[in-house]
Amino acid sequence: MKVGVLQFSPALKGKDANFRKIRELTKDARLDLLVLPELCTTGYLFTSTKELMPLAEEFPGGSSTAFFTEVANNISGYVVAGVAEKSADTLYNSAVLFDPSGYVATYRKIHLFDKEKEIFTTGDLGFPVFDAGEAKIGMMVCFDWIYPESARSLAVTGADIVCHPANLVLPYCPRAAVTRSIENRVFYLLADRIGAEKRLNAELTFIGQSEIIDPKGNVLASLETEEALITAEIDPAQARDKFVTPRNDILNDRKPEFYR
Ligand code: ACM
Repeated sequence: MKVGVLQFSPALKGKDANFRKIRELTKDARLDLLVLPELCTTGYLFTSTKELMPLAEEFPGGSSTAFFTEVANNISGYVVAGVAEKSADTLYNSAVLFDPSGYVATYRKIHLFDKEKEIFTTGDLGFPVFDAGEAKIGMMVCFDWIYPESARSLAVTGADIVCHPANLVLPYCPRAAVTRSIENRVFYLLADRIGAEKRLNAELTFIGQSEIIDPKGNVLASLETEEALITAEIDPAQARDKFVTPRNDILNDRKPEFYR
C-alpha cells in the first residue's frame, strides 16, 4: 500500500482556499490512503460554537463531502480528514473517511483539548475500525494521543493503521506516536498542521512534525514545519504480527485483570 500524510496551514474560515490548497498539494498523488490534518477545512481557533456552526457540515452532505469524494477519486484511494461536523444542533470535532464512491464513516473526537470543551461536544461513537482496501484503519483526533487507551482501543479492535489528524500545539506527540506504534505494533499516520492563529487574546502556533511510523517505531517519513505531502510504501500485514519475541504476543499477553 502507498500511504500519505499532508501537512499544511489551513486558512481560518477559508474553506474554499483550503479546498484549493489540498487539491493543489495532492494533484499528482496516487495513494491507497491519505490523511489530512484536524479541522483542515475550517481552521482551528474559533471563539464559540455559534461562530463555528455556520461553517460546520453534516456528513454525508455539503461541500466537504463532494470535495473529499473528489480527492479520493483523484488519488484513487481512501481519504481521512479532520472536519467540524454538525449533527442537528451538536458540533463535533470529527475525522471522516471517504473512498472514491463517497462518504464511508465518521469518528468523533473523544478527548477535547482546552477551550475545545467550550465549543465541541465529546464524541459518542467510540473508537471504531473500518476496512480500507488491504488494511483495517482506525481514526483518532489530536489530543486523543495523550490517552494511550485511544490507540490501544483501535489496535485491540484490529486496526493495522492509526490515522491521526492533528493540530498540535504541545511538543510531545511526535515522540509519543513512536511509542504508540511500538506498544501496539501498528502503522501510525500523524497528519499535523503548521502555521499560527491569533484571535482576541489567544495565539496558537502549530508544531508540524507530521510523520509515518511503522509497527516497530521506525519513522519512514517525516516533516518539520514545511508544507508538503510525505508518502511511504507499507505492508499492512506487518501490523498483524504482534509477536515481540516468539513467546510474547503484545495484545494477547495483556493482563487486564491487574490493570486499573
Ligand atoms: C488539539 O487537540 N488540537 C491540541
